[in-house]
Amino acid sequence: MSTFALLFLYTLGISVVLADHNKEESRPSEAPRLSVEPKPPEEPASQKSEPCSKRCTCHHDDYTLELNVYCSTRNFTQVPSDIPASTRSLWLDANLFTTIPAGSFEKLTNLEFLNLQSGLLVTVDGHAFKGLHSLAHMHLERNNIRSLPGITFQGTSNLASLSLNNNQMSRIDEKLFAGLSHMWLLNLGWNLLSVLPETAFQDLHGLRELVLAGNRLAYLQPQLFQGLTELKELDLTGNYLKVIKANVFLKLPKLQKLYLAQNQIVTVAPRAFVGMKSLRWFDLSRNRLSILHDDTFLGLHSLHVLRLSNNSISSLRPGTFRDLQYLEELCLSHNQIRALGVRVFEGLGHLEVLNLEHNRLQEARMGTFMGLNHLAVIKLTGSCFQSLPDQVFKGLSKLHSIHLDRSCLAKVSTQSFIGLTGLRRLFLQHNNISVVERQSFVELQGLQQLDLRFNQLSSITSHTFYGLRNLDYLLLSGNLLRHLPAEALLPLQHLSWLDLSGNKMESILNATIYMLPRLRYLNLKDNALINLPGSIPETLDQLWLSGNNWKCDCSAKPFRDFVLRKPHVVPLQVEMLGDGDDTHTLVTIYNNITCTSPLSVSGLDLRNTVSEHFQYC
Ligand SMILES: *[C@@H]1O[C@H](CO)[C@@H](O)[C@H](O)[C@H]1NC(C)=O
Ligand SMILES: *[C@@H]1O[C@H](CO)[C@@H](O)[C@H](O)[C@H]1NC(C)=O
Ligand SMILES: *[C@@H]1O[C@H](CO)[C@@H](O)[C@H](O)[C@H]1NC(C)=O
Ligand SMILES: *[C@@H]1O[C@H](CO)[C@@H](O)[C@H](O)[C@H]1NC(C)=O
Ligand SMILES: *[C@@H]1O[C@H](CO)[C@@H](O)[C@H](O)[C@H]1NC(C)=O
Repeated sequence: MSTFALLFLYTLGISVVLADHNKEESRPSEAPRLSVEPKPPEEPASQKSEPCSKRCTCHHDDYTLELNVYCSTRNFTQVPSDIPASTRSLWLDANLFTTIPAGSFEKLTNLEFLNLQSGLLVTVDGHAFKGLHSLAHMHLERNNIRSLPGITFQGTSNLASLSLNNNQMSRIDEKLFAGLSHMWLLNLGWNLLSVLPETAFQDLHGLRELVLAGNRLAYLQPQLFQGLTELKELDLTGNYLKVIKANVFLKLPKLQKLYLAQNQIVTVAPRAFVGMKSLRWFDLSRNRLSILHDDTFLGLHSLHVLRLSNNSISSLRPGTFRDLQYLEELCLSHNQIRALGVRVFEGLGHLEVLNLEHNRLQEARMGTFMGLNHLAVIKLTGSCFQSLPDQVFKGLSKLHSIHLDRSCLAKVSTQSFIGLTGLRRLFLQHNNISVVERQSFVELQGLQQLDLRFNQLSSITSHTFYGLRNLDYLLLSGNLLRHLPAEALLPLQHLSWLDLSGNKMESILNATIYMLPRLRYLNLKDNALINLPGSIPETLDQLWLSGNNWKCDCSAKPFRDFVLRKPHVVPLQVEMLGDGDDTHTLVTIYNNITCTSPLSVSGLDLRNTVSEHFQYC
């Protein structure tokens, strides 16, 4: 069964999963940031007046008249002293020196780009960068720097980007960034910072992006971000923050993205984000929030994405999100919300994706989702509804996917999915559904995929699928079905994919499969089938049959002829790419047609029986 699940995901999953609204915009964690980086040399050293540094490669750009010097990975144990004075860009990354003495680059008054990353640097003299008046971009990331003297960047007042991430810095001198008013990117991520001087960033009036992720910050002083009026992106992911006070983020009118995920935030002061008029993306997931006040998100009028997953939120108050009229994605998965009252999602008129997975929701009611006029995807996986409240999705006319798998459902009732004429995908797998009331799906004219795998269905009648005239995929594996009356599938004139594996099917009628003019895929694995119908539609291009009790007597002859004539439709085995984390493993899926009777061929694959066995048929 699990191998089949792989097959299913492989063949079907791609189109199904990707089509969902799944707005991903995860950060490129600690990748080097955008900065103007000249291209590596195509050919070494054109002859110019100044000789190149002895063990380096020089490249003179004839258009820009710029000299680039490449000294990466040369095993330098000290900074070379013969770098040409006219150098514009210097690569000194991944060498072996542990320190930069005073005046190391003194002559390089034209230098604009300096790359010192991925080396063994521990200390940098306060005067190391003296004379670099033109320097705009400096890479010091991925070294072992513990701290930098306060005067380090005093002579480099034109710095625009500075990367200090992935070092061992445990403190920042309060004067370190003084006067750097041209800086627009500062990356201090993945160091050991537990506190920052309150005035550390006060001169960085032009800063657009500040990365402080992966440190040990437990507290943010009220003044810390006060002068950063141009800041667009602030990353505080993975620190030790516990409390967000009301006055920390107030004066960041241009901030568009704020990352606070993976901290230990227990409380957020009411109105803490009230001045953030431009905020579009806000990640508060993986914290310890248990309560959201009804004015927690006040004033976030531009917010598009709000992530609150993996907290301990136990209830939502009406109106909590009322200011978020442009929100498109709200993620509340992996919390402890048990009940949803009315009006909790009030105001979210532009919401497209609502993720409430893994909350063990037990209660919702008609009206809970009212007003979500643009909602396209609702994820309720891992809830525990005994039965779905009547008309709970009423009015969600734009809804195209409902995820209700693993939700303790015991039945589907006539009122559950009323009015959802635009719904395309309905996921009901891994519930305990034994009853589907008559015409429960009658209004789902647009439904393309219905997943009812792993439930307790023991019968299907002509009313069960009534109305599903556009259904393409019907997944019924892992139920208790013994028979499938031909008329049960009559409404499904569009069906191309039918999975009945893992049931208790004893027979399949000729009429049943001929009823479906578009059927291409039929899975009958692991049932109790003895015979197949005398003929199989020519339209079929995959037929799965292993795990049954095939009776290989004369009645099986047409079936054997078909299998031998169309081995690609009934392949003996297929190699599939496994799904999931180890995507590159091949999985073999068998499709044996093992005869159980008569005795003379018992244990043989039908394909391997000799023709003489059928000579008197
Ligand atoms: C640097 O040292 C390593 C190890 O001794 C050696 O393999 C490598 O070739 C050296 N690289 C250069 C450019 O000398
Ligand atoms: C949330 O927690 C669950 C369960 O511990 C985990 O599987 C999931 O990856 C987490 N999600 C995020 C975004 O951290
Ligand atoms: C599933 O439903 C059956 C009745 O149809 C019930 O006996 C059983 O306890 C239910 N199982 C679960 C896990 O809810
Ligand atoms: C099965 O049904 C089709 C369509 O009604 C018919 O053409 C075919 O002869 C039938 N085959 C058998 C063996 O009854
Ligand atoms: C199916 O057949 C292959 C050989 O083709 C055999 O190795 C495998 O054990 C068989 N599987 C089952 C379930 O009979």
